[in-house]
Amino acid sequence: MDSTYFKRFRMEVDGSAPRLAAALPPGYRFVPWNEAVLDIHARTKFRSFRDEIDALVFPCLGNLEGCRRLMREIRNKSGFLPNATWLVAHGSTPESLQWCGTIQGVSERGGLGMIQNIGIVPGHRGLKLGTCLIERALAGFRMHRIDRVSLEVTADNSRAVRLYQRLGFRRTRTVYKVVDEAATGVVA
Ligand SMILES: CC(C)(COP(=O)(O)OP(=O)(O)OC[C@H]1O[C@@H](n2cnc3c(N)ncnc32)[C@H](O)[C@@H]1OP(=O)(O)O)[C@@H](O)C(=O)NCCC(=O)NCCS
Repeated sequence: MDSTYFKRFRMEVDGSAPRLAAALPPGYRFVPWNEAVLDIHARTKFRSFRDEIDALVFPCLGNLEGCRRLMREIRNKSGFLPNATWLVAHGSTPESLQWCGTIQGVSERGGLGMIQNIGIVPGHRGLKLGTCLIERALAGFRMHRIDRVSLEVTADNSRAVRLYQRLGFRRTRTVYKVVDEAATGVVA
C-alpha cells in the first residue's frame, strides 16, 4: 500500500521566560477542566480540525468519534494536567453559548510538558484566542514546575508554525509521520 509522508516539526519553549499575558477579547472566557467537559473538548477539537491538514495526518481528528477516543486517551494518560487543559467559550446564556477553542496538556518523563492539540473553531480565528490558550496552558505547566514545554506541528501548517515562533517556540527536531493513503484519501 502507498503511503504519504508528512513533515512535522517538534518545537520547544522555555515557559519560565517572562512574558506578557495576552487578554481574551471581550465576551470570551476560559473554562477550566472537569470531567463533565470531556465531550465538549472532543466536539470543539472536531470542529477545529475537521477541514485542516492535521485531519489528513491524524485521520481521527477528522471525525467526532475519533476526537472522542483521542480525548479519552489524553484524559487517561498518567501525566494528564487539568491545569494545562482549557476551553474558550463565548456567550453566557444557554442560547448564546459557543465553544470556540480547546487545548490539552500532559507531563512526560524528564519534566517535559507536552501540548497535545490546540484548536480554534474557524469563525473565531485571528482574535488571539490561540495565543491566549497557549499562554494559559504554559501558566498551568508552571504551576507544576514544568518549564520546558514541547509540541509537534505539521510543517505545512504555516499559520500554526508562525504562531508558535511568535510565542518563543523553537524547532528542535524534524520528524515524518507516515500515513497510509487509504486513510488520507490522498492519491499521488
Ligand atoms: C493555529 C490556530 C490554533 C491559531 O489560532 P488563532 O486563534 O487564530 O491564533 P491567533 O489569533 O493567536 O494568531 C493567528 C495568526 O493568524 C492571523 N490571522 C489573521 N486573520 C486570521 C484568520 N481569519 N484566521 C486565522 N488567523 C488569522 C493572526 O493575526 C495571527 O497572526 P500572527 O501570528 O502573525 O500575529 C488555528 O488557526 C487553528 O485552530 N487551526 C486549525 C487546527 C490546527 O492546525 N491547530 C494547530 C495544530 S499544531
